Amino acid sequence: MKPLSVMLSMLAIGITSSAAMAQATSLPNVSPANSDLANRGAYIARAADCMACHGEDYTGGTAIETPMGGIYATNITPSKRYGIGNYSEADLKKALQKGRAPSHMLYPAMPYPSYSGMTDEDISALFAYLQTVPVYDQAPDYKTDLPFPFNIRTLMLGWNVLNIPSSTNREGLTEVQQRGEYLVNNLGHCGTCHTPRNATMGFDKSKYLAGAQLGHWYAPNITPDALSGIGSWSEQDIVTYLRTGELDQRAFAGGPMGEAVAHSTRYLKNEDLGAIASYLKAVPAIQTDDKVTAVDASRLPSPIDESITHDLVAQKDYLAEAKAEVANGSNSPEALYLATCASCHGVDGYGQPDAQYSPIVGLSSIRRERPDALVNMIVHGVEGSTNTSPIMPGFSDDLNSEQIASIANYVRVNFGGLTSSNVKAADVDRIAAGEDQRPFLIKYAGFLAILGILVAIIVIIFIIRAIIRSRRHR
Ligand code: HEC
Ligand code: HEC
Ligand code: HEC
Repeated sequence: MKPLSVMLSMLAIGITSSAAMAQATSLPNVSPANSDLANRGAYIARAADCMACHGEDYTGGTAIETPMGGIYATNITPSKRYGIGNYSEADLKKALQKGRAPSHMLYPAMPYPSYSGMTDEDISALFAYLQTVPVYDQAPDYKTDLPFPFNIRTLMLGWNVLNIPSSTNREGLTEVQQRGEYLVNNLGHCGTCHTPRNATMGFDKSKYLAGAQLGHWYAPNITPDALSGIGSWSEQDIVTYLRTGELDQRAFAGGPMGEAVAHSTRYLKNEDLGAIASYLKAVPAIQTDDKVTAVDASRLPSPIDESITHDLVAQKDYLAEAKAEVANGSNSPEALYLATCASCHGVDGYGQPDAQYSPIVGLSSIRRERPDALVNMIVHGVEGSTNTSPIMPGFSDDLNSEQIASIANYVRVNFGGLTSSNVKAADVDRIAAGEDQRPFLIKYAGFLAILGILVAIIVIIFIIRAIIRSRRHR
């Protein structure tokens, strides 16, 4: 939500009852023609974010990229030929809880390690709901086709033994927090992104929710650590962020988190978002080296001048001047920011509400000790969370590393409120080159480790068999 719409919605809240405020965005795919059970299932599908991968219409096709090739989400409409029209409720239960489709094992690109804890009741509702989804009689354009030996899906059996269940239930939680735990660990599968992976590509439980690299994105530490996590957020802050994708001058849900908000969390009931917030406050705080400087409001630019902040025409002259300067070879950080970024984020970082460009003032992504998240965004750009949201282009072709570093420093100090920032061209080179590789290597190593463990198990089985046989023959 952008400032203008925030203002409008605040107005709306002012004139309507507090009951209206408690309403989540109404659920699409819910129909009075459907049973209550099915409609309850529609909510489960939202909370579990099935559409993040299978699509809003459940026709599949989204690729989960791995170093061995794409793993494609399948059609889960009730098509008998191409979807899950032949599934019984027990089949769905097995797919969600054990990662087993009727004819094959699933890859953990489908988050069954998290769904393994889903309750039977919720699966019944989901099953009833999935029967009401319009049938789509076509396979997705691409089919998963990993090379040998990764195409041996039974290998996942060994992985599952090591990595399921992916979470354990905490002791001493209130009932509300237990609900939050279920939403975070099982339905919302937050750990899929926020918990780093261990050598077998399972969750590293010792770093539960402490932040993980996701390709170009960084899913930050969401434990209540005061320095590197979200310890300074109130429960209401967490609810607002999950509801609107934004926390004024504090945080913004971009990229994969923007999608999670757009497809899932914004639809959740206030009580469920509250339960998530309460639970996130109760998990162990883990401190990582990626500290976030607290917002110092006195160091943030004030959106002083209406004419500059919101009047595009007034901004135009500034931008033209800066562009001319840069064209003439100036490397002034301010001119670089104005020429490259201000047409969308505004001369003072407050964005352009009319054009739906987000303000960037104060965001956590520009206040982190490690500049990686910000640099990755400048290098690679940001895809909008939905098909209709505006996108941010990547600037790796237009700017050199020196200039990117310079803009990053300018943004961190002037809009993030940091007292200093020392991103160097070499950091930009490292981030631009490295982050692509790292998660892939880790994943690759993970699969090799699984393979190694399995080969070892198979060899041991053969050895034991051989011993048994030789005894019998005696
Ligand atoms: C993070 C992405 C992701 C999410 C979220 C997700 N899935 Fe999947 N799902 C996949 C992928 C990828 C596959 C195919 C896996 C494979 O080929 O081994 C899959 C496969 C399946 C299958 C097996 C279909 C078949 O081939 O018979 C079912 C059933 C399924 N998903 C249901 C669901 C439901 C229901 C939800 C929500 C509760 C859900 N999925 C959420 C990615 C996802
Ligand atoms: C598909 C990956 C993914 C999933 C699933 C996901 N997140 Fe995130 N999350 C991210 C990323 C990436 C960011 C950083 C967004 C940005 O800075 O634009 C983020 C940011 C956040 C933040 C803001 C942290 C900060 O310091 O700014 C919170 C809070 C959060 N997520 C909570 C959750 C919760 C709760 C869930 C589960 C209901 C969840 N996330 C599920 C990827 C994910
Ligand atoms: C063409 C318009 C455009 C330009 C130019 C642009 N951005 Fe963005 N930027 C966006 C949009 C749109 C988003 C939000 C994307 C989304 O919905 O996730 C965004 C998001 C961001 C965020 C918030 C990311 C987060 O999730 O925390 C930062 C920081 C940012 N931009 C910095 C910059 C910088 C620095 C530059 C100049 C190098 C720049 N942008 C240039 C459109 C732009």
